[in-house]
Amino acid sequence: MTEAAFTQRVFSGIQPSGGLTLGNYLGALKRFVEMQDEGGYETIYCIVDMHAITAKLLDPATLAQNTRELCAGFIAAGIDPSRSILFNQSQVAEHAQLAWIFNCIARLGWMQRMTQFKDKAGKNAQNESLGLFAYPALMAADILAYHATHVPVGEDQKQHLELTRDIAAKFNNDYGVEFFPMTEPVIEGAATRVMSLRDGSKKMSKSDPSDMSRINLTDDADAIAQKIRKARTDPEPLPSEAKGLEERPEARNLVNIYAALADMSVDQVLAEMGGQQFSEFKPRLADLAVARMSPISTEMSRLMEDPAEIDRILAGGAERARAVAAPIVKRTYEIVGMVGS
Ligand code: AMP
Ligand code: TRP
Repeated sequence: MTEAAFTQRVFSGIQPSGGLTLGNYLGALKRFVEMQDEGGYETIYCIVDMHAITAKLLDPATLAQNTRELCAGFIAAGIDPSRSILFNQSQVAEHAQLAWIFNCIARLGWMQRMTQFKDKAGKNAQNESLGLFAYPALMAADILAYHATHVPVGEDQKQHLELTRDIAAKFNNDYGVEFFPMTEPVIEGAATRVMSLRDGSKKMSKSDPSDMSRINLTDDADAIAQKIRKARTDPEPLPSEAKGLEERPEARNLVNIYAALADMSVDQVLAEMGGQQFSEFKPRLADLAVARMSPISTEMSRLMEDPAEIDRILAGGAERARAVAAPIVKRTYEIVGMVGS
């Protein structure tokens, strides 16, 4: 099998670790919907509940609730479960099966270089779970169990996607096959790295202790307006060209967010708004954020009123996902020499 023979297939995942931020929306979800709607790809989107317990075990009821909420979030944002496959990771055993093989392909040295592990573990690495360390091999399995060719993600996942390619290449090379594709990262748009509203050097994250640092998909209009009004900036007006944002991380972040929400380029935004003070720009950004995000959170709440329907959607998605992954993992086992029927 050569690479040209691979179906154009998109796979991506989000952890049900509670709440979605504007960063998740602009860096990931919005692109997921666009790739579904563009056509030309088979799109598979996964709620990665096995990843969600790597940093710490969640209370079981919380994990279940987060999973259903994230499913509602995908649908509210525009994922159509009849056109995309939408499911939760734990229900398709092939992810864990392939992850084991990849644990034996990936080298310790490769894993030790993962900056996300180093950031998350900090000085306390000895107390982290083995799962947190092995997480990028599971992520490679998520992708390669489907022979996915394209993976839309935010900038922070770039290194994990390079590792996925390294794992695929080493597997192919060690077994003398061309079985796994070289997956392309899709890191596109004006907001592939949305920064904290309080600190332009830190990524906006659902785990930041300060709620003022992020916009949650569930924030109402008042909360969004207040967070943007209080967002850290500098005293200068907006420049009229992108170059003028180079040394201004907080200003750049707000302009990137505006551009992504409005489906404009940064240059277009600055051509229109260059020279404005933040006292003018911030209310416009707040209005835009409310207009784009509040329909999603309203729809999410509506969907959450019928959890049985959500469970039904997830079960249907898992069945379709399994149909794609099972033959690929079965073939992997054969390549490795595992005897079976
Ligand atoms: P996570 O919530 O860590 O599972 O991330 C899910 C997806 O959202 C991944 O594709 C991330 O790259 C993306 N993402 C998370 N935070 C941000 C951010 N601040 N800016 C852009 N993308 C993000
Ligand atoms: N590691 C990703 C994150 O934290 C989530 C993820 C897990 C993922 N498996 C994936 C993303 C496969 C893309 C493809 O954001």
